[in-house]
Amino acid sequence: MTATTSSRPISLTRFLIEEQRDKQHINADLRLLIEVVARACKRIAISVGRGALGGVLGSAGTENVQGEVQKKLDVLSNEILLEANEWGGHLAALASEEMDDPHPIPHRYPKGEYLLVFDPLDGSSNIDVNISVGTIFSVLKCPTGVKEPDEKAFLQPGTQQVAAGYAVYGSSTMLVLTLGDGVHAFTLDREQGSFALTQRNLHIPEDTREFAINMSNLRHWEAPMRRYIEELLAGKNGPRGADFNMRWVASMVADVHRIVCRGGIFVYPLDTKIKEKGGKLRLLYEANPMAFIVEQAGGMATDGHGRILEIMPKSLHQRVPVFLGSKNEIERVTRYHREAAG
Ligand code: AHG
Ligand code: MN
Ligand code: MN
Repeated sequence: MTATTSSRPISLTRFLIEEQRDKQHINADLRLLIEVVARACKRIAISVGRGALGGVLGSAGTENVQGEVQKKLDVLSNEILLEANEWGGHLAALASEEMDDPHPIPHRYPKGEYLLVFDPLDGSSNIDVNISVGTIFSVLKCPTGVKEPDEKAFLQPGTQQVAAGYAVYGSSTMLVLTLGDGVHAFTLDREQGSFALTQRNLHIPEDTREFAINMSNLRHWEAPMRRYIEELLAGKNGPRGADFNMRWVASMVADVHRIVCRGGIFVYPLDTKIKEKGGKLRLLYEANPMAFIVEQAGGMATDGHGRILEIMPKSLHQRVPVFLGSKNEIERVTRYHREAAG
């Protein structure tokens, strides 16, 4: 079969221009912002892809604000995103997992109305072993009248996000994006150097027989979490009457990507080891953008009790328990937690 030009997927650039012009979903600044983030993700994909040949593997010998050892690629990806986003005039400030405080736009550049929050490289433990890693980002509006945004400007519930997305650096590089009107997937065409729209309106099935959780923490979990997983593990002869399969990549991006492609649930619950911290995953640049994407794809995202997107953040690096994916399973596990809380 010969391919015609009309059957060629459209580029991210064209998709965004059409979102702006025809649907008036976004303005020129937000379009530029997404393009710039996508360009930065291409640069990160190149570095990740070079692996050992790029001299980018291994530890940077430093720690971030959360006390985690930074990998060279965590630092590099953070720099790539900062550098790409500083000068375009579309942002008021940036914040990242790898920086203690928000990063202001240098005075020599114009400022815009948006705030960008990101996890520059998610899945750090997988960098050195050639397993998928990714970048997660969330876009908020800078509160009106705020000229020099500090931490407070970023403390907005996830419902305020105007866009969110992630790039997954896997066997192919993909960008998955929501502008609040469905979730769309783009694949990096390495020959052309551009992202091409490969799937519109991703949909997470309501039911699933697949779950993602770090099972090694089972002994530290709270009772409702144990109850839920034990029921799944009991399989066909247990209360659920079905066998469930398990997957755990240990890169949230990769696990969530599998879920937006074919359904499933991803859970990082509270456990006794991380109780004081409030959870493992970070609200502003991991949980919120992924919750926005999952809800836009027809799934559900809670912290075990309520909707993640409605949590009012108290600090930039706040952590939360995360339950997201196929609706009926997330509803059930959330119900178990609510019942136990009384
Ligand atoms: P990051 O590399 O940005 O710190 O995030 C790692 C997160 C997430 O990607 C993943 O799902 C989880 O940590 C893995 O946790 P375990 O080490 O418990 O498997
Ligand atoms: Mn992460
Ligand atoms: Mn990270």
